[in-house]
Amino acid sequence: MQEHAKFKQQVKAIYRLMAGLFGLFIVAAIGILLLVSNPDWTRKKATEVESEYVAIPEVDDFDKIENGIHVRTGLIEADGLMTVVNNCTNCHSAKLVTQNRMNAERWIATIKWMQETQNLWDLGKNEEIIVNYLVTNYPAKKKGRREVLSNIEWYDLED
Ligand code: HEC
Repeated sequence: MQEHAKFKQQVKAIYRLMAGLFGLFIVAAIGILLLVSNPDWTRKKATEVESEYVAIPEVDDFDKIENGIHVRTGLIEADGLMTVVNNCTNCHSAKLVTQNRMNAERWIATIKWMQETQNLWDLGKNEEIIVNYLVTNYPAKKKGRREVLSNIEWYDLED
């Protein structure tokens, strides 16, 4: 009988081994199947790329006026402001416009020069509005240099 019991034990051991192997095989098979059907399943999901969206100011903010200044260009708020903004800040900064203080005549000449050499478009009726705006809000500055001296009593240097 002892022989028989021993044999039974051996069968049991083999059976367990087989069952274990079978289990391993199932697990491996499932793993392989998963890999084949979805090769990326072990990889970390790419975190959602944050869009590099830069907030564009609201339309209202775009032409915001603060303390009488058109914020985007630095131009003074007055009649004709938007005409100047729309026609004179496309190619160069508004600073180029405001740092040049001229009278109407010279403004018209400058505009003509840009039209002839810099592809500035025909301004039509806007030209008057623009020149008025510029002359009114950025008037020609008083002369920077003192007047030539006159009425001076010169004296002779003695040696
Ligand atoms: C089509 C493009 C364009 C537009 C629009 C434009 N300009 Fe100009 N402007 C130029 C160029 C180019 C120059 C030369 C810039 C430089 O020398 O760097 C210039 C130069 C100037 C200068 C400097 C002139 C000088 O003698 O140095 C003034 C002032 C000026 N522009 C005013 C204006 C005004 C006012 C308006 C609106 C009526 C205007 N610009 C619209 C192209 C333009």
